[in-house]
Amino acid sequence: MKDIVNIGLAGFGTVGGATYEVLKRNARDLTRRTGVAMRVTRVVCRNQQKARARLNGDDVQLSSDWHDLVDDPSLDVVVEVMGGIEPAKSLVMAAIKAGKHVVTANKAMLATYGNEIFSAADAKGVTVAFEASVAGGIPIIKALREGLSANRIEWIAGIINGTSNFILSTMRDTGASFDACLAKAQELGYAEADPTFDIEGQDAAHKITILSALAFGTPVNYGAAMIEGISKLEAVDIRYAEELGYRIKLLGITKRTSEGVELRVHPALVPMRRLMASVEGVMNAVVVKGDAVGTVMLHGRGAGGEPTASAVIADLCDVSRMLANGNSPVPIFGEHDQEVGWLPIEKTVSSYYLRIGVKDEPGVLADVSRVFADNAISVESMMQKEAPVGASGTEIVIMTHSTTEGAIRRAVRTIEALESVTSRVVLLRKEELN
Ligand code: NDP
Ligand code: HSE
Repeated sequence: MKDIVNIGLAGFGTVGGATYEVLKRNARDLTRRTGVAMRVTRVVCRNQQKARARLNGDDVQLSSDWHDLVDDPSLDVVVEVMGGIEPAKSLVMAAIKAGKHVVTANKAMLATYGNEIFSAADAKGVTVAFEASVAGGIPIIKALREGLSANRIEWIAGIINGTSNFILSTMRDTGASFDACLAKAQELGYAEADPTFDIEGQDAAHKITILSALAFGTPVNYGAAMIEGISKLEAVDIRYAEELGYRIKLLGITKRTSEGVELRVHPALVPMRRLMASVEGVMNAVVVKGDAVGTVMLHGRGAGGEPTASAVIADLCDVSRMLANGNSPVPIFGEHDQEVGWLPIEKTVSSYYLRIGVKDEPGVLADVSRVFADNAISVESMMQKEAPVGASGTEIVIMTHSTTEGAIRRAVRTIEALESVTSRVVLLRKEELN
C-alpha cells in the first residue's frame, strides 16, 4: 500500500514534456482521484540543457542513460515515451525484470514485440499499460477492455493517424502542398520521428494491430497487416471521390470473418453522410461494432503533447490506484483465442474505385467491361472523364459492388495489359462503415 508513487520518465519531448506539465498542473485532482501523490522524480533524455530549462529548477534527477531508471529502487513506474524500438524495448524489458510497472505510448514497439513484452510482464506480475499508443487522447483501449468487454467484437475501423488526416484535410481546405502540410504536422508535434511511418501507413498499422489483438484475442501480429499509405494519392482522385459523394480517409480496419481476422490500412472512400467523413485535421475517430452494443464511435485528438499526456496519465492513475490499494495487476490481453487466425488479404471483401486512362476510341468500354464480367465483378457505376490537360485519350472512373481483393487484383492486371489502356490503374477501396 502506497501513498506516494514515484515515476521515472524516459523521454522528455512532445509527450514526455506534456505529461510532466499536466501531472504538475492537475496534481491536486489526481491525488483526490487516486488516493496517492504521483511524483516524477527522474527524467532521462539526451538534450540535458533543453530539459533543465523545461524543469525550471524542479527537484528532479536528470540524466541521459536509461539504465538510471531501472537501477533506481525508489521508482514504482517507468513511463517510456522515447519512441523507436531500441533502446525503448531494452528499457521496458529491464524495467519489467526489475519489478517496475511500465506505461508506454510506443505503438511501434508494442506492435512488433508486444507478445514478448506482455508475457514478461504477466510472468513478473507487473503492468504494461499503453492507452497512449492508439489514437492519442481517445480512451479506446479502456473502452475495449472495460466498457465494451461484454461484447463479441465484430469489427473496428478508424482514422488513427493524426498526421495523415491533418495532411489530407489541410491539402483539401487550403490547397497547400503535401510537403508543406507534412512540415506543419511535424512543427505541431504530431508526426513520428520518422514521418514515413505516418504517411506510408505503418503507424496506423501498428495501432490497428494492437486494437485487433485486444478485440479478437489473437497474439499481436503486425506482419499480418496489409499496408498502403497516402503518399501516392492524387488530387484528381480526391476530387472525383467528392463528386461521387465520398471523402478519402486513411483507415485502419480489423474485422472478424468466418475465415479469420482481417487487418489492413489503406486510403478509402467513405460516404460523406458518415460521421467518419467529417473527422478533420489531427482528430481521430474509432468505430467499434459489438454484437450487443451495435456501433460505438469515439472521437478526439489523435496526436499532440497534451492529448497524448491525457492518455499516459490515465494509465498512471490506474497503476497508482492499484499500488494504493495493494492490488495485483490484471493481465491486459487475457488468454489467446486459439480458434482465431488471420484472413489472407486476397480473400478480403470490399467495393472499389478504379481510375483507368484509356484511348478515346470505340470498343474500349466494352473491353474493360468484359474483364470485370470475366472476374465476376459487378460494376455499380462508370463515368467517362476528360483527360488531364496535356494528356491524350480519356479516363474512366468505375465503382464496383463488393468483390474480393484477389478478384480485383486479377482484373487490374488484365486491364493494364489491354492495348487500349494507357496508364497504371488507380485502385482505391470504398468502405460503407455501416
Ligand atoms: P519526441 O521526439 O518529441 O521525444 C522523444 C524524447 O525521447 C526526447 O526527449 C528524446 O531526447 C528522448 N530520447 C530518444 N531517444 C533517446 C535515448 N536513446 N536516450 C535517451 N533519451 C532519448 O517524441 P514524442 O514525444 O512525439 O513521441 C514519444 C513516443 O510517443 C513515441 O513512441 C511516439 O510514437 C508516441 N506518441 C507520440 C504522439 C505525438 O503526438 N507526438 C502521440 C501518441 C504517441 P532529446 O529530445 O533530448 O533528444
Ligand atoms: N504520429 C502519430 C499520429 C502520433 O500522427 O497519429 C499519434 O500516435
